[in-house]
Amino acid sequence: MSFSAAWLELREPHDRRARNSPVIEAVTATLAGLPSVTIVDLASGTGSTFRALRPLLGVRQSWRLIDNDLSLLARAPQSLPPDISVTAVPTDLNRDLEAALDGPVDLVTTSALLDLVSDDWLQRLVVETAARRLPVYAALSYDGRVEMSPADATDEQIVAAVNAHQRTDKGFGLALGREAAPQAIQRFERVGYTLAQGQSDWVFAPNDREIQVEVLSGWAAAARDIGEIPLSDVIAWLKRRRDLVTAGRSSIRVGHVDFFARPTATR
Ligand SMILES: C[S@@+](CC[C@H](N)C(=O)[O-])C[C@H]1O[C@@H](n2cnc3c(N)ncnc32)[C@H](O)[C@@H]1O
Repeated sequence: MSFSAAWLELREPHDRRARNSPVIEAVTATLAGLPSVTIVDLASGTGSTFRALRPLLGVRQSWRLIDNDLSLLARAPQSLPPDISVTAVPTDLNRDLEAALDGPVDLVTTSALLDLVSDDWLQRLVVETAARRLPVYAALSYDGRVEMSPADATDEQIVAAVNAHQRTDKGFGLALGREAAPQAIQRFERVGYTLAQGQSDWVFAPNDREIQVEVLSGWAAAARDIGEIPLSDVIAWLKRRRDLVTAGRSSIRVGHVDFFARPTATR
């Protein structure tokens, strides 16, 4: 599954606002005191997590941005001060997750990835990071909660179709969708990790027209692909919702979860 740079750029400020602050504080507290940190960002896109965390880590930073999309990696930050380095590493994480984690690493990060991955891949992530005793910061996993205001009679059916679409194959086998974050949290707890977790919802105000239209169009396409709602109903729903956005009367909340999983000192 591919993601356009334009879409990632559009969502980045909303992601930044949504990121759960206590979870980020748990990340920075864990790294505090280290003279330098090496961070591996899985499915980095153009570097959204790098841009969010970089100003909060007051130390020398070395980032490896891992993605299989060369055109996104080509947009990774380049001219940086001497105490920050960013290396783009083209990698298919479905095939080569283990290689991406090898070498010196202090923190693994990812954002907007876990809802795309399969149960098997998630298990690999937990096993491989636990084997290396690596802390993991995973932000912005979609959790299935959607609130649209004002409400429309077809909203519920559309959201059900979106959540069904989230379970289809996104390149890692059948995806976990909204189950991803709770599953990941449970599995890290089982291998003795300490968890900080919290919501990181997108909250789109009436003025956030561009991202609302983009998200609504994506949901209509997902409902079309699932095929359980007559196409004419999907189109009519999209038109009504877009009209509300244009009129400045639409607000949308989309549920996400962030967590930070840290290996405890003794297991
Ligand atoms: C929703 S985007 C999130 C990007 C970035 N983390 C962010 O928050 O802006 C998902 C990312 O996963 C990457 N991706 C999807 N399948 C992948 C795979 N098999 N190996 C590596 N990256 C993959 C995509 O290229 C894309 O950059």
